[in-house]
Amino acid sequence: MGNEKDIIILGIESSCDDTAAAVLCNDKILANIVAGQAVHEAYGGVVPELASRAHQKNIVPVVAEALKAAGVSPSDLTAIAYTKGPGLLGSLLVGSTFAKSMAQALDIPTVPVHHMKAHVLAHFIDTGIGKPEFPFICLTVSGGHTQIVKVSSTNDFKIIGETLDDAAGEAFDKAAKLLGLPYPGGPVVDRNAALGNPTAFEFTKPKVADYNFSFSGLKTNFRNFVERETRRNPDFISENINDLCASLQYTIIEMLMDRLVAAAKAYHIDTIALAGGVSANKGLRARLESEAKTRGWKTFIPAFEFCTDNAAMIGITGYYDFLNNERGDLSDAAAARWKME
Ligand code: KG4
Ligand code: ZN
Repeated sequence: MGNEKDIIILGIESSCDDTAAAVLCNDKILANIVAGQAVHEAYGGVVPELASRAHQKNIVPVVAEALKAAGVSPSDLTAIAYTKGPGLLGSLLVGSTFAKSMAQALDIPTVPVHHMKAHVLAHFIDTGIGKPEFPFICLTVSGGHTQIVKVSSTNDFKIIGETLDDAAGEAFDKAAKLLGLPYPGGPVVDRNAALGNPTAFEFTKPKVADYNFSFSGLKTNFRNFVERETRRNPDFISENINDLCASLQYTIIEMLMDRLVAAAKAYHIDTIALAGGVSANKGLRARLESEAKTRGWKTFIPAFEFCTDNAAMIGITGYYDFLNNERGDLSDAAAARWKME
C-alpha cells in the first residue's frame, strides 16, 4: 500500500483504562480506535487489576479493527509503536507484550514510546492545521501528570515545572467524587461549570516554588468546605452543584495559568501548547485563548480526540522516534515509572 518510502506505523496505547490502536502513514492518521472501559464506573476510579483484564480482552479486536479501518494488512506495517510507560504496570504489560509478539511474528521493529511525550507530540499529527514551531512550551495536564515542558525538537523535552503531589486531572476527579459525580469527574465538572458562577466560592490556591504545582492543599480545602457546609445543610451539594464545579474549575485553571504565564515569560517563549486529558476542559481552552490575545501568544490546543488517551499520539511519536533511529528490543520491559528526559 502507498508509496514505498511511506512509513506505516501501528500505535498501541494501554497505559491506563483505554485500549487504543491507531494506524498512521507517516504523520497522517489512517485509523484511530479507542475502546473505553466502563467496568471502572461502579468503583469511582480505575481499578488496576480490572483494567489489565479488560485490555487483555480488548487488545486483539481493537488492533484488528484499526488495521481494517485503515485498509492496511499486517504485512504493510513498517514498525509497531507501543506505550512503554509511565502508567499502570499490568495495563502496560498487556500492550507491550502484544506489540513485541506481533512485531516478532512480522519480523519488524518495535518503537517503545513515552506516554507523556506522546501527549505533546499529538500536535504533530498532520490534521491540516499546522504544527507548533520549536521551541514551544507545553502545559501537559492529565490524570497522572501535570507538567510544563520546554520542547526544543521532537526528541528534546525539558520539564521546567511539575506537580509535587496530585495531578490536575486528579484534582478534578477527587473533588468530583466528593460531590457524588461519576468517574471520570473532569468532564462532568466541566459541563456543570458552564452553568455556574466561578467566583461563588473561594478556594485556596497554594503556590510552590519555581514553575511547580501542588494540588493536594486545594483538595483538602475543598473537602473541608463541602463537609462543613453539608453538616449545616444536607442539600448543600445538590443546591450548589454548578457553582461548586465552576468555582473549583476556576481555581484549578488559575493555578495552572499562573505558572504557565510565569514560565513563558522566564523562557521568552510565546508559542504555547496544551496537551493531556484536562486540555479537553472548555474553561481551560477558553482561558488560554484569552490569555493568548493579551500576551500575543501563538497557541496550539488539541482537537478533543487527541486530548485524552489515544493511540494516534503513540503512532506519531513512534514515527518521529523511528525517523530518529530509535528501535526497541524484545527484552524491553514496561515501566510504570519512566523519566522523560
Ligand atoms: O490524558 P488522560 O486521558 O489520561 C492520563 O494519561 O491520565 O487524562 C485523563 C484525565 C482525567 O483526570 C479526566 O477527568 C481528565 O483527564 N479530563 C478532564 C476533561 N476531560 C478529561 N478534566 C477536566 N475537564 C475535561 N473536560
Ligand atoms: Zn494520558
